[in-house]
Amino acid sequence: MDHGFWMERWQKGQIGFHNSEVNGMLLRHHAQLGAAARVLVPLCGKSLDMGWLAAQGHEVVGIELSRLAADAFFAEHQLQPVVEPLPGATRLKAGNIEILCGDFFAIGRQELGAVTAWYDRAALIALPEAMRGRYVEHVARLLSPAARGLLVTLDYSPPVAQGPPFSVDEAEVRARHARDFTVASLERREVLSAEPRFRERGITAMHEQAYALVRRGTHS
Ligand SMILES: C[S@@+](CC[C@H](N)C(=O)[O-])C[C@H]1O[C@@H](n2cnc3c(N)ncnc32)[C@H](O)[C@@H]1O
Repeated sequence: MDHGFWMERWQKGQIGFHNSEVNGMLLRHHAQLGAAARVLVPLCGKSLDMGWLAAQGHEVVGIELSRLAADAFFAEHQLQPVVEPLPGATRLKAGNIEILCGDFFAIGRQELGAVTAWYDRAALIALPEAMRGRYVEHVARLLSPAARGLLVTLDYSPPVAQGPPFSVDEAEVRARHARDFTVASLERREVLSAEPRFRERGITAMHEQAYALVRRGTHS
């Protein structure tokens, strides 16, 4: 998935992935992120989940390629961000929410600062298989020791190749994170009945699943 693909999606308003409500898995499992943690939201779009996390007292730092998405997030929350150019990215910050606008893979710990938790909804599953290993490694590199995460995925069958979203099942989640994190499944729920656009693509079963990830060696 190249940058042009996503830029075009935002320019044309083809953002079927954007939800008009806060993700239910986040509402039910956000305690997994720990109290007062600074939360990284990779590939954040203009997700309402960031505003909700901030309202719970978290500092939120999203990373998003599209400036249109970042501007829309702040405008829709009636926030006026301070804009600061960084090497390879632009920081937009208002209150306890910032979005680093740039390529996720080009952002390092220096630009990001310390993060003790991350929340991934529709980031891992937005990437084709060939990019997912690199994505998980970069997330692990960006996080502080003792970091914990909440990951929300989709898996469906048949697992047709023309994502995003791509189908990422539990075996893949466990295999990709095994080196750096312990993985526990928190919830799995059927979602195809509420998603006719996927049924039209020939998908016959689809589930959303949430996982708790904890950096190995972390004591709770
Ligand atoms: C499927 S959307 C999910 C957005 C958000 N997580 C949500 O739940 O609405 C994936 C987002 O990742 C962004 N994106 C894709 N590749 C990226 C990259 N390399 N660096 C930063 N953002 C990227 C896209 O612009 C898009 O907004």
